[in-house]
Amino acid sequence: MLLFRAPAPADWIQHVLDHLPTILIDHAILERKAATSAINLQKYPPLAHRLDELNAIAIEELQHFQLVLELLKRRGIAFRSLTQSPWISGLMRRIRKGSREQVIDHLICMALIEGRSCEKFQQLRDALVERDPELSQFYGSLVESEGNHYATFWLMAREIDEAEADRRLDYYLDLDAELIEKPATEPRLH
Ligand SMILES: [Fe+2]
Ligand SMILES: [Fe+2]
Repeated sequence: MLLFRAPAPADWIQHVLDHLPTILIDHAILERKAATSAINLQKYPPLAHRLDELNAIAIEELQHFQLVLELLKRRGIAFRSLTQSPWISGLMRRIRKGSREQVIDHLICMALIEGRSCEKFQQLRDALVERDPELSQFYGSLVESEGNHYATFWLMAREIDEAEADRRLDYYLDLDAELIEKPATEPRLH
């Protein structure tokens, strides 16, 4: 698993539990974004031979999006737009321009987002066992899939340029550790 340099802050789980309806909306948005990102990655020439794998991820993410939407409906929570989390914008803003630089950075950002989702879904699964068994089970069911996406994106970055991918991962892990400590102003999963 990805070696994050800082765990999610200790108060993150309580913050999320205190705002579950908004967190579920944010989760739905994240799944939809994950699907469109997998499609967007197809525009990079070094990934031209990975269309099937990227399609498979996009389809899986759309299925996740649908599952969260159904959960929202069952719970009477209206889907709406939310602003992006500062953690995600902070990562994406540092994607460099240029053919290889951009695709490697984009893949690493995607890997980090998937990796953090994997970490946080496990925490949610454990924290919700008694309070909300349906949701606990739901988060548990997503852990493996997001973990696989993390690994796939990271391996795609390394396949393009191993040394550069390692260098950029080092940079992004520091950035992640810095950004994750910043207290969220709005309830967001990340
Ligand atoms: Fe997903
Ligand atoms: Fe994913």
